Amino acid sequence: MSLRPAFGLSAALLLCGCDPRPDFPDAVDPAVVGTRLPPGFLLGAATSSHQVEGGNSNDWTDWESSRFPDGTPHVRDGEVSGMAVDSWNRFSDDLAALEHLGANAYRLSVEWSRLEPNPGEWDEAAATRYRSWMLQLRAAGIEPMVTISHFTLPKWVAAQGGWDDERIEQSLPAFAGRVAALLGDQVDLWVSMNEPNAMAVQGYLVGLWPPGVQDQAAAARVLARQIETHVYIREAIRMNDTADADGDGAAARVGLVHHGRVLQPSSSSVLDSAIAGLADDFANEVPLRAARTGRIQINIPPGVNIDQEVEGLQGSFDFIGLNYYFRQYVRADLGLAALSIQYSRQDRPRSDLDWEIYPEGMYLFLHRFSQLGVPIYVTENGIADASGIVRPEYLLRHFDAMERAIGDGVDVRGYLHWSLLHNFEWADGWRPDFGLFAVDRTTFERSPTPAVETFRGISRNAGLTPQDRY
Ligand code: BGC
Repeated sequence: MSLRPAFGLSAALLLCGCDPRPDFPDAVDPAVVGTRLPPGFLLGAATSSHQVEGGNSNDWTDWESSRFPDGTPHVRDGEVSGMAVDSWNRFSDDLAALEHLGANAYRLSVEWSRLEPNPGEWDEAAATRYRSWMLQLRAAGIEPMVTISHFTLPKWVAAQGGWDDERIEQSLPAFAGRVAALLGDQVDLWVSMNEPNAMAVQGYLVGLWPPGVQDQAAAARVLARQIETHVYIREAIRMNDTADADGDGAAARVGLVHHGRVLQPSSSSVLDSAIAGLADDFANEVPLRAARTGRIQINIPPGVNIDQEVEGLQGSFDFIGLNYYFRQYVRADLGLAALSIQYSRQDRPRSDLDWEIYPEGMYLFLHRFSQLGVPIYVTENGIADASGIVRPEYLLRHFDAMERAIGDGVDVRGYLHWSLLHNFEWADGWRPDFGLFAVDRTTFERSPTPAVETFRGISRNAGLTPQDRY
């Protein structure tokens, strides 16, 4: 495969480590954070169905209760999502948490396996419940952003081959259309799917998520199929959601949420730089290029080279969502499927998951995403911090980075913190704690962590009105 530059020159300059701008100052003034947002900015938090609802039955619940061939549990310490934090039965508590934050937006996902547990079979009770949530959010002045697919699949879809089977190109858009018909009069902001790159890497390259495949070609196919399916999901939503819920002139805006990882070569050697460029291309650039050009182009040496034009793909992102968490360094290792080891530097501040805390990456990615020329929402940003002590500073610094990008003219329309609640963190189980609100997993009582006060300060600075719910 060719080792051509993986991304545009300006992005390359920003990501190569030669950007002369200083890193963040030591302190960010909390009185300023939140004061530099454009009118109508959406401020809130995010969750996903499987991680908070509880009581699901999907490909992940199967995965959680089984093991790798060597006997190691699929999820750390053999933990399962189980009742999760029981959001399925505690929506009023979640709403209270949002109101306490002063949020005017909430990103959540609908669980396909709940609504369509068998092909074509629709669960009316589940549909009614999701609909009532949307009505309650709107009544509280909170704009819902609904994700159609956030990693989980119904068992029947997984049995068909999941993302590595072309039937999902019809079944998921059909589901999306039905959801849009159900919720469209309350919802204007839709996410077709969450992080196609993470799904492809975790499920099909390193095999740590279902279906546990380790195959470069499958990972590339699955990444391509997700991006293509975004186009069909968008068509289905736009056909079925014709009601402009917030009166801004658009009934449905459909975006894709993309995980941006700063990947920097671990040395100045030609090999590390070239492999870091390839890793960056696969992890970061494929969906961006696809939206710009209408072509899905994926290269993984030695044998994977997809170049596919998809009708309707160019310009099909009404917005793009940025999920931003960390920076990693890339050291070439041609013996590995990923061709490199990607790691956090131990001399940098890190989260409980060993992810580097690197607010500047938020700034860099907002600039990089802005090359698409569509509105950007920060759809996730947060930290695994069981102590709760680091999160306030993390929040202030990342918010400040975002406001600096806005000051440069980048069109950022919202920030949704990951996560509203302590939730089930996929293969890492329950130990990583991303929640603004802690949850007692016996009583399911929600309680604010220290960052909630920080968030309320930002809300006030942004002209919103946090209510006193705790
Ligand atoms: C995912 C979330 C996850 C979060 C923290 C994101 O990549 O969308 O589901 O919990 O990262 O790992």
